[in-house]
Amino acid sequence: MASSNILKFCLLLSAISLSRTWALNSSSHMKYSQNSSSIGSICKTTPYPDVCFDSLKLSIMINISIEISPNINTFLLYTLQIAIFESEQLSNLLLDAGNSDNIIENQTGTIQDCQELQQITMSCLQRSVSLIQDDAPIKQRKLADAITYLSAALTNKNTCLEGLDSATGPLLPTLLSSIDYTYMYVSNALSILSSQKSHNKRRLMDMGAPTWISKKSKRRARTLKSEYDPSRVLTVAADGTGNFTTITDAINFAPNNSSDRTHIYVKQGIYEENVEIPSYKQNIFLHGDGTDATKITGNRSVGDGWTTFRSATLAVSGNGFLAQDIYIENNAGAKKHQAVALRVNADFVALYRCSIIGYENTLYVHSFRQFYRECDIRGTIDFIFGNAAVVFQGCKIISRFLTSSQFTVITAQSRDSPDEDTGISIQNCSIVAEEDLQSNSIRVKSYLGRPGREYSRTVYLESYITNFIDPTGWMQGPNNDDEGSKTLYYGEYDNDGPGSSTDGRVSWPGFMIFLSTSCQKRLQKAFAKPLERSEGHLNPQMMMKDNKSPPNLAGSVMYLQGDNEGRSYPTYSDHVQVIDSISQQLNQAYKSIEVEAMTAMRRLEFAVELGFDRVVLRVT
Ligand SMILES: *[C@@H]1O[C@H](CO)[C@@H](O)[C@H](O)[C@H]1NC(C)=O
Ligand SMILES: *[C@@H]1O[C@H](CO)[C@@H](O)[C@H](O)[C@H]1NC(C)=O
Ligand SMILES: *[C@@H]1O[C@H](CO)[C@@H](O)[C@H](O)[C@H]1NC(C)=O
Ligand SMILES: *[C@@H]1O[C@H](CO)[C@@H](O)[C@H](O)[C@H]1NC(C)=O
Ligand SMILES: *[C@@H]1O[C@H](CO)[C@@H](O)[C@H](O)[C@H]1NC(C)=O
Ligand SMILES: *[C@@H]1O[C@H](CO)[C@@H](O)[C@H](O)[C@H]1NC(C)=O
Ligand SMILES: *[C@@H]1O[C@H](CO)[C@@H](O)[C@H](O)[C@H]1NC(C)=O
Ligand SMILES: *[C@@H]1O[C@H](CO)[C@@H](O)[C@H](O)[C@H]1NC(C)=O
Ligand SMILES: *[C@@H]1O[C@H](CO)[C@@H](O)[C@H](O)[C@H]1NC(C)=O
Repeated sequence: MASSNILKFCLLLSAISLSRTWALNSSSHMKYSQNSSSIGSICKTTPYPDVCFDSLKLSIMINISIEISPNINTFLLYTLQIAIFESEQLSNLLLDAGNSDNIIENQTGTIQDCQELQQITMSCLQRSVSLIQDDAPIKQRKLADAITYLSAALTNKNTCLEGLDSATGPLLPTLLSSIDYTYMYVSNALSILSSQKSHNKRRLMDMGAPTWISKKSKRRARTLKSEYDPSRVLTVAADGTGNFTTITDAINFAPNNSSDRTHIYVKQGIYEENVEIPSYKQNIFLHGDGTDATKITGNRSVGDGWTTFRSATLAVSGNGFLAQDIYIENNAGAKKHQAVALRVNADFVALYRCSIIGYENTLYVHSFRQFYRECDIRGTIDFIFGNAAVVFQGCKIISRFLTSSQFTVITAQSRDSPDEDTGISIQNCSIVAEEDLQSNSIRVKSYLGRPGREYSRTVYLESYITNFIDPTGWMQGPNNDDEGSKTLYYGEYDNDGPGSSTDGRVSWPGFMIFLSTSCQKRLQKAFAKPLERSEGHLNPQMMMKDNKSPPNLAGSVMYLQGDNEGRSYPTYSDHVQVIDSISQQLNQAYKSIEVEAMTAMRRLEFAVELGFDRVVLRVT
């Protein structure tokens, strides 16, 4: 049975290439069996309906199981398999592109970026397949993961195209069309997946108790504890007193594809290196002696010919990365345009008490799920940008003066489709300016954000905003089109400080959903109960187990106050429940905020899972 399926599949794949040409043409003359028509109607809503219809027709022609028992899962799998097949062709093309003069880069790193991103896309596709396989209907939790992976894959596409934009060479047209073709299937798969997403908030509860109180997580916490062994910590010291003198050497030494955490302690010192953590170096934990002591600096920039992606001083593609007490800087200077200090395109990444310092495009939250707690982030324009699902908590976000520019802007979130699940969520942060910007804030306008792409999503919640922010708050995208602005979503909720008034905010049609004061009051009231009960949302307070021993974010046990005494406390699902019941009373305008808040909570959940030292849910 299995082998005959494989055989069918091989037939199918060979048919795909043959069918390409006509497949793109013949969509208008489709006939479906009745049982395929529900899939057909889903096809209609995908970004590339023709491609979807054609693969549907093809699948029927080749008579894989879809015909026998049409279901959305098999069709989804099928779409993903085509994407994987095409993706392999694309990877081969990219290898060719790296040879001789097939592609001539204008920005250093273009092809390398594409190659690495393509590898990540491949693994995203494969992981999505393994999540979906044999699981119908797909569980919401797995669905969320798969949506994350495919969103990341689409972000990879865009980043690769950005580099190729200025490239030349004979292979370029073939390469571009292969990228287009491959990612049509990825887009469609994501769209089908996202159509399966439950819009009923109650379903979120089906995900069950937060993992941090689940047995599994307790077991994991114990493992983490027993795993911690100071003699196994790799020490980097610029002065030669450690195992390595550069961080790069330590990363190279770290085991490949490890599911155990690798501790790398970076002693105080200045490390002038571009550190790359490739996707096969997983679960690295980098900790320093503090942001005034352990510094990683670099100076690559777009101005000096690098791609934005490759300009990063610290570049993280390995999942499960953690960092604490480190200063990361790109010191290319204000005149060199984009110059990234930290780029993260890896899943389940958390940074704690780090400084991320630069000018333009300082922090590239490229893709996947990320969490930043009590970090300082400093820059001029679009200095938090990218397409991750990212939460900032308790961070200090500092805008800097740029002499050559009439404006500064904090975020440039670049979500590209309604199906992705990405966005920037800034909670309990302070939004401030360096002195020279503050004193020039009449002349130089500063904004909370502007769109990187059409479906840009950014929310500021419960943060303190000083008055250097222009009353309009948000800046239009470079295309200045109101059309795109209908698909954006920017929100502000319960912020404080002289720059937080939403009275003068932009009001382009469909562009912003701002809560009127009365709405805010109602929402505040609605949130009041859970807020009081837990001092904010599920606010983990991270405490060092022992300030003297090496900081061990990941090395010790998670702890829930109240757990020991057997007291009950509001859990994650309590929150969801409360919000859920409130949601029915609220109108459309603030539903999105709730989603954000809930998403924020879910993301905290993974931060906790990652092993932040102690997590205390304060209950009063
Ligand atoms: C596809 O359609 C275009 C225009 O409709 C036509 O010129 C072309 O010949 C068609 N190709 C095939 C393979 O049918
Ligand atoms: C569709 O599938 C159902 C059960 O899977 C079957 O009873 C029905 O006859 C099928 N309809 C057609 C038109 O094939
Ligand atoms: C399609 O699959 C069914 C069930 O496996 C089989 O009975 C039928 O002959 C197949 N049709 C074709 C055209 O291969
Ligand atoms: C190549 O890069 C230079 C600067 O690095 C830029 O001036 C030029 O326009 C670029 N060429 C293309 C084709 O984009
Ligand atoms: C690193 O240095 C420590 C202390 O000198 C030592 O115990 C440990 O074995 C070294 N690790 C490696 C991998 O060399
Ligand atoms: C890890 O993989 C890289 C790339 O394949 C290889 O060069 C390196 O030697 C491997 N390192 C270890 C520690 O296995
Ligand atoms: C890491 O694991 C992946 C998937 O299992 C494999 O494809 C890759 O070759 C491994 N990389 C290294 C350097 O071992
Ligand atoms: C960039 O940093 C390197 C060391 O990392 C240094 O050799 C080089 O001179 C610096 N370039 C500039 C323009 O500052
Ligand atoms: C908010 O952030 C600050 C750090 O800026 C932190 O001290 C405080 O505990 C946070 N508040 C909550 C409720 O998490």
